Amino acid sequence: MSVTVVVGSQWGDEGKGKVVDLLSQDADIVARYQGGANAGHTIVIDGKQFILHLIPSGILNPKVLCVIGNGVVIDPVALINEIKMLSEFGIDVKDRLFISHKAHLIMPYHKMIDKAREEAASTKAIGTTGRGIGPAYIDKYRRVGIRIVDLLDRKVFEEKLRRNIIEQNQQLIKIYGYEELNEQEIVEQYLKFDKLVDPYITDTTSLLNKAIADGKKIIVEGAQGALLDVDHGTYPFVTSSNPTSGGACTGLGIPPTSISRIIGITKAYCTRVGNGPFPSELNDDMGEYLRKNGAEYGATTGRPRRCGWLDLVALKYSVMINGISEIALTKIDVLDELDEIKVCTEYLIDGKPLKNFPVDITTLDSIECKHLTLKGWKKSLKNINSFDELPIEVKNYLKVIEDFVAAKISILSLSPDRKDTLIIN
Ligand code: GDP
Ligand code: IMO
Ligand code: MG
Repeated sequence: MSVTVVVGSQWGDEGKGKVVDLLSQDADIVARYQGGANAGHTIVIDGKQFILHLIPSGILNPKVLCVIGNGVVIDPVALINEIKMLSEFGIDVKDRLFISHKAHLIMPYHKMIDKAREEAASTKAIGTTGRGIGPAYIDKYRRVGIRIVDLLDRKVFEEKLRRNIIEQNQQLIKIYGYEELNEQEIVEQYLKFDKLVDPYITDTTSLLNKAIADGKKIIVEGAQGALLDVDHGTYPFVTSSNPTSGGACTGLGIPPTSISRIIGITKAYCTRVGNGPFPSELNDDMGEYLRKNGAEYGATTGRPRRCGWLDLVALKYSVMINGISEIALTKIDVLDELDEIKVCTEYLIDGKPLKNFPVDITTLDSIECKHLTLKGWKKSLKNINSFDELPIEVKNYLKVIEDFVAAKISILSLSPDRKDTLIIN
């Protein structure tokens, strides 16, 4: 079995890009299985920063093949921009990028409706990235979505598009006061896109299953995080896909039995972008400190991220639903200067402990966190090269996490750069 699944264990932005890039140095294939250009995965190599939205984070390793699976929703504009950005850095994706012919396309009206709904929702807005993700998945499950394969037959594509445009116009014009969509413009735009992406389109399900049979090393890269999962997250303040490990199988067409390792990427504290419950959030100077010190601004939208202490209750839930056996802990360096560090160890409602992670936002919004306070290490972790060199307080922080969630921390990230990472055996 050769598949390692990498998932975000919190509300996204845990540092998946950095860890996937690192792990893919000796991998054959890296595959994305859900989400779309709502993701922003940052990789830093020798001070040079790359932000990827759709293309898997293995692309900077020249020998790695990258797959965008059937579960991803693809915005052609974002994809082409990303291919261009990479080529400006001298990275050619030709013969290395494979896109599923079953993947659904994000259409211009998906982005319009995403934005229009958010604006209309005012106080109840989800705070989406505005990338059209929700409306594209709605069309997929309504069985009217347009897939990459539809681009291959102009007649089929035009027919599907026409039916969609009639319906979408109703919504956009009547409910949101938009102008009528121009069908011909969209047809031309997408047929142009077809020419550009044609060389990358293939049957990625067969490609991946053959690679599994051949014993190739495959890294599967999740976007977002477990608490944004449409089924298991803080619904309705979630994304519209399954970032949890189960989504890897449906989003790529690989069997669960092919997966041997599930790594949960976990930030040493918590962040969340957009609206929704966040039990350990710090709306004070400490929250501001974490945002400033951790440069917590969205890689896709630039929005300030909400910050709080590490929530072990939520992390334990995430470990359970994903089957995480190993944790890659990131951004521990952000805590270097603190005298004390807190972690949330229990949820209380009206002073009474909760047994399980709640499913409804009313309860989640009313939670009071019980904290454990740990001593800080008050030392820079720069230039640390092994686990043994870590201050005792860092080792203690790691042990508290490992014991609470019953998973081993096998990777410790000490800076945004690929090179500043400890592998812990
Ligand atoms: P992703 O969406 O999970 O890939 O994470 P993002 O790229 O959106 O956000 C993570 C941010 O933290 C990026 O700016 C990374 O460069 C940065 N980062 C990753 N690991 C570390 C780390 O160990 N220390 C610090 N200080 N920054 C990190
Ligand atoms: P990566 O892969 C953090 C959040 C949005 C919003 C909610 C729904 O970089 O970790 P959507 O546009 O998906 O309909 O927005 O989900 N969100 C993310 N937050 N990191 C992400 O991706 C996110 N992708 C979506 O802020 O709250
Ligand atoms: Mg991100």
